[in-house]
Amino acid sequence: MSGGDMLDFEIRPNPQPVAAAEREALMANPGFGRVFTDHMVTIRYADGKGWYDARVEARAPIPMDPASAVLHYAQEIFEGLKAYHAADGGVTMFRPDANAARFAESARRMAMPTLPEQAFLDSLRHLIEIDRAWLPTSDEGSLYLRPFMFANEVFLGVRPAREYLYAVIASPVGSYFSGGVKPVAVWVSPTYTRAAPGGTGAAKCGGNYAASLAAQAEGAEHGCEQVVFLDAVERRYVDELGGMNIFFVYDDGTLVTPPLGGTILPGITREALITLAGQQGRTVVERPVEFDEWRADAASGRLREVFACGTAAVITPIGQVRSPDGEFTMADGNPGEVTMSLRQTLLDIQRGRTEDVNGWIHHID
Ligand code: PLP
Ligand code: COI
Repeated sequence: MSGGDMLDFEIRPNPQPVAAAEREALMANPGFGRVFTDHMVTIRYADGKGWYDARVEARAPIPMDPASAVLHYAQEIFEGLKAYHAADGGVTMFRPDANAARFAESARRMAMPTLPEQAFLDSLRHLIEIDRAWLPTSDEGSLYLRPFMFANEVFLGVRPAREYLYAVIASPVGSYFSGGVKPVAVWVSPTYTRAAPGGTGAAKCGGNYAASLAAQAEGAEHGCEQVVFLDAVERRYVDELGGMNIFFVYDDGTLVTPPLGGTILPGITREALITLAGQQGRTVVERPVEFDEWRADAASGRLREVFACGTAAVITPIGQVRSPDGEFTMADGNPGEVTMSLRQTLLDIQRGRTEDVNGWIHHID
């Protein structure tokens, strides 16, 4: 595909799909990212040829040369979005066009070719259609879609690769955190930062997540499920978590979230919540938040609730905050009212239980 945005997908159904009884057993309690469907999508790219060989085929290992560029220089990006079993029995996706646009932005930052938005959307639709039986019907369940792309040219020189593989896999999921919706404890790392100005913080590239793992391990040593990263320049302002954006809820109902300045991921949930809260008549402010201010406002009671948000985590309340200077609890440590009400509103929109005034929902059939 060099000219238009349409790409013909060759559909090759898996000759040996998982048997229905086994599938049901796997889906009974899937957790997050452990169970996978029968198929995957692949599309190849080569300089001078463009996008080609778009396929829906049996999910299988991807053969790879040991000199494949991604294994050495980490030219890789991904996305994450969910398909939902909707109230009317159909299937919906939440803002997949926003994921397509962010995927293209990530590609540009990593000097990779951009997949046309229509091909991205078609790849998701094809996978959902063929693996529809894997879509959980429970209230908390969804089919997590993971589009990704990596450099697979066989070459060790350090330059943008000339060949890539784009793929999509799908995973039926329940709650991201094993405890369901209960407040998580977060670690504010004194040691590690996530992204510096001019770096790759705003791109969804695998390297950002590799770099966050030592911080995650440090947090786990302190009994925390997640890490809050401070800005890399002054180590003063709250950026985001390893895989979620962050919101603060004050006693007058105002919501505050750190601004997009190139070092945090422009979350699609974050943007939706800014819109939704505004439509509910709340004041929403995008401004830098100092960690010291967080601690002081939590102590005074001015700051009532803090939550993390993202596709995988939906909206997750933050209960405990730990750093080398000590720890504090947000309010009484229980999920806050604003947090839980925004969460419900978001889930109701995603599952078609309430009117989608913003046109965020894509129906598959
Ligand atoms: N921040 C990071 C670092 C993430 O990995 C994610 C998850 O994708 C988010 C924020 C939330 O983004 P979204 O709401 O688009 O899932
Ligand atoms: C998502 O929310 O989709 C993500 O990609 C975050 C990841 C840490 C699971």
